[in-house]
Amino acid sequence: MKKIVIILSSIIVIIFIVLLVFLFNTNSNDKDIEEKKENIIEEKNTKEKANEFSKYSYYKEENLNRYESYKANNPELSIEDIITRVNLCLDKEVYTDTVPSTNLNTNYLLVNKFNYLDRNYIPNNLELLDNSYAKSGIYLVKEAKDNLERLISDAKNAGMNIRVISAYRSYSYQENLYNNYVKNDGVENADTYSARPGYSEHQTGLVVDVTRAFDDFNNFENTNEYTWMLENAHNYGFILRYPKDKENITTYSFEAWHYRYVGIELAKKIKASNLTFDEYYVRYLESDNN
Ligand code: DAL
Ligand code: ZN
Repeated sequence: MKKIVIILSSIIVIIFIVLLVFLFNTNSNDKDIEEKKENIIEEKNTKEKANEFSKYSYYKEENLNRYESYKANNPELSIEDIITRVNLCLDKEVYTDTVPSTNLNTNYLLVNKFNYLDRNYIPNNLELLDNSYAKSGIYLVKEAKDNLERLISDAKNAGMNIRVISAYRSYSYQENLYNNYVKNDGVENADTYSARPGYSEHQTGLVVDVTRAFDDFNNFENTNEYTWMLENAHNYGFILRYPKDKENITTYSFEAWHYRYVGIELAKKIKASNLTFDEYYVRYLESDNN
C-alpha cells in the first residue's frame, strides 16, 4: 500500500512538473512573438522616417539622426543639401572626427578640414615647374603640370599673363606656413585662409595658386586673367576650389587664385553642377570609389 502511495505521488509530482514546464514555455514563446512584433514595428518606423532621405544614392543610414537634427536646425535647406552637408560633417566642429583621405594618388582625392593626408604622404610623379611661368623650385603632379602648361600657353595667346606662385607643399612646409599665420593673426583668423598641416590640398600636388604675372595674388579677383580662368580653367582640368559665397561649405574664405586639378572630364562636370568639389565628391564620387 505504502509503495502504491509513493508511486502515485511521484506520478502526480512528475505531471505537475511537466505541466509547469509546458506553461512556462508557452509564456516565453508568447513573449518571443511579442518581441518580434515590436521589432518589426520599430524597423518599419525607422524605414518610414528614413524615406525622405533614403531615396538619394548618397544617403547613409548611420547618419539618419544627424540628418534629422540638421533639418530641424536648417529648415530652409533642401533634403539633398542636408544629406550632403551632414555627409561632409558640416554639422560638426572643423578638425573634429577627422579621417585619413582615401583615393590617394588619384585626381579625385579629397582633402579638407575633415579628411587629412599623412605627414609622410608625397604624391607620385611630382615634376618641377618651369620658371618661365612659375616661381622657381615648385613642383606639381605630371598630369596636372602638362595641362597647366597648355592652359598657360592658350591664356598667353588670348593676351593673359598667368604665373604660378605656389603648387605642391609638403607637410612640413605647410606646418611652418600655418604656424606663422597663427603667430601673426591668431588661430581663428588663420583657419579661415590657411589649412593646418596634413589638411592642405597643396599636399596633394594637384593645386596651383596663380596671379597675373608679378601682381599681388590678393588682386587676382580684379584681373582679366581671373575672368579668363573662370571661363576656361575647366577645359584644362582645373576648378576654382574655394568660390565666393560657398564659405559655409568649403569652410575657407573665397580664394580667386587657388585652382585644383581634377582631370578634364570631372572638371567640366563639376563646373556644370555649380557645386563645390566637396559637395560633388559626397554626391557622386564617394560611393563609386570607396
Ligand atoms: N589656403 C589653402 C586653404 C591652404 O592653405 O591649403
Ligand atoms: Zn592655394
